Amino acid sequence: MNKKMTISSIKKTKGIRPLVMITAYDALFAKLLEPNSDMILVGDSLNMSFAGKNDTLSTTMDQMIYHTNAVCMGAKNSFVVCDMPFGTFINKEEALKNSIRVFQETPADCVKIEAGEDKADIVKYLTSNGIAVCGHIGLLPQSVRSEGGYKVKGKTENEKLQLIKDAKAIEEAGAFCMVMEGVKADIAGEIASSVSIPVIGIGAGADVDGQVLVFSDMLGLFEEFTPKFVKKYMDGASLVKKAVKSYSDEVQSREFPQEIHTY
Ligand code: KIV
Repeated sequence: MNKKMTISSIKKTKGIRPLVMITAYDALFAKLLEPNSDMILVGDSLNMSFAGKNDTLSTTMDQMIYHTNAVCMGAKNSFVVCDMPFGTFINKEEALKNSIRVFQETPADCVKIEAGEDKADIVKYLTSNGIAVCGHIGLLPQSVRSEGGYKVKGKTENEKLQLIKDAKAIEEAGAFCMVMEGVKADIAGEIASSVSIPVIGIGAGADVDGQVLVFSDMLGLFEEFTPKFVKKYMDGASLVKKAVKSYSDEVQSREFPQEIHTY
């Protein structure tokens, strides 16, 4: 993972090896994540883990541009995906105007759009105007309010058929890969094999072409809730709290600073 991925090398991983995608929102973490990831996603999930909001819906273009620039500064050798926030791709013109902002104001490599068959025309418009697009199908966090919660998809035959239509429509519209979120594992593989571009899963089981996790979930830093699909690779929240308690205790006892920390 030393060489920066390209759209072509990402596509070529299909059927060869799983892609590793992780979110990041700042330069500090992007630099730490870069050596072991293929793609870094500046997700609109930053509205929850970074900004403390309840969902992603109030994320703005300005926020995405700001955080994407920070991530690109930290991970200069990474393929960076900028998530398009809710309301920024409601029609072709808005989608193109906002995606052009991403390409002109940041070095990001592509945009990600929560879009299935219903928005394939928008994806097509973007790709035919030189915008690289990563799709996002299945559970769409930007629909949380209209759907009344985060609902796993693929539970019925109709949902499965719709997901296959979504995947195919996004591929035909020119997307070079897609994220598939919150889909029953027994059908996720079928959906992934119905297209020739990589399908990167989150909560979609093992039979897909890669995995993405939100970094603050996988590092155990986000304490509000833990979705079933998250594996915590460390207990970051406890580690941070323990370290800060030691600092606080040592400041109060005047154990810190010592001679070596003093000019
Ligand atoms: O915003 C985000 O972090 C995402 C992931 C959940 C894929 O879209």
